[in-house]
Amino acid sequence: MTRNLQTIYDGFAKTYDENRGLFDLSSVLSDFHQSLAKSGGELLDLGCGAGEPVARFFIDHHWQVTGVDFSAEMLKLAQHYVPQMKSLHADIREVLFDAETFDAVSASYSLFHLPYEDHAKLFENIYSWLKPDGKALFTYATDDYTGQKEFSGYKEFMGQSLFYSHQTPEQLFSQLESIGFDVESANKHSIGGETFLWVTVHKK
Ligand SMILES: C[S@@+](CC[C@H](N)C(=O)[O-])C[C@H]1O[C@@H](n2cnc3c(N)ncnc32)[C@H](O)[C@@H]1O
Repeated sequence: MTRNLQTIYDGFAKTYDENRGLFDLSSVLSDFHQSLAKSGGELLDLGCGAGEPVARFFIDHHWQVTGVDFSAEMLKLAQHYVPQMKSLHADIREVLFDAETFDAVSASYSLFHLPYEDHAKLFENIYSWLKPDGKALFTYATDDYTGQKEFSGYKEFMGQSLFYSHQTPEQLFSQLESIGFDVESANKHSIGGETFLWVTVHKK
């Protein structure tokens, strides 16, 4: 299932790239950036894709960015657009970093491609990789996108059938809090005609 997703992203990197301007994250990224305690630092971007807009935004704001993606073709685009980003070709569920390496972590439009059974381990890792007072921002799918309270299945995106998975926001918040995160904000945004929940969590 996930191998298939990797192949799909490799195959439609160009299409994705041509359509990327449809998703204007400037206000989401600006709000997250302003909420961070530091004005510069180390960001980990999980499922970084072509490096825009997330890595681009943070690099322009004097951050060091490490991007992880399992699509070699998306990473090639990232190397072109955001050569300053350090990129790792890996599955975000398998990558490992030392504890307290990053000031911030982002997962923009990527986490929802993992089966929700895999979310807890990734959230635990993110908690460990963040420095104290660090924050993470991620996109979470809800019934606004899938039409169901809980979902694991396929949806059409840019002419491709992609796997998506989510639980309810209440289950998500409880999972995050049990790991130790404060859920700082969770706001629905409609961007490019798609509504998702954008969640910011804080490691106290
Ligand atoms: C919808 S794109 C989002 C790209 C970028 N974050 C953005 O906001 O434009 C999803 C990205 O997540 C990557 N991805 C999905 N599941 C992944 C996984 N398990 N490990 C690594 N990358 C993954 C895909 O290859 C793709 O580049």
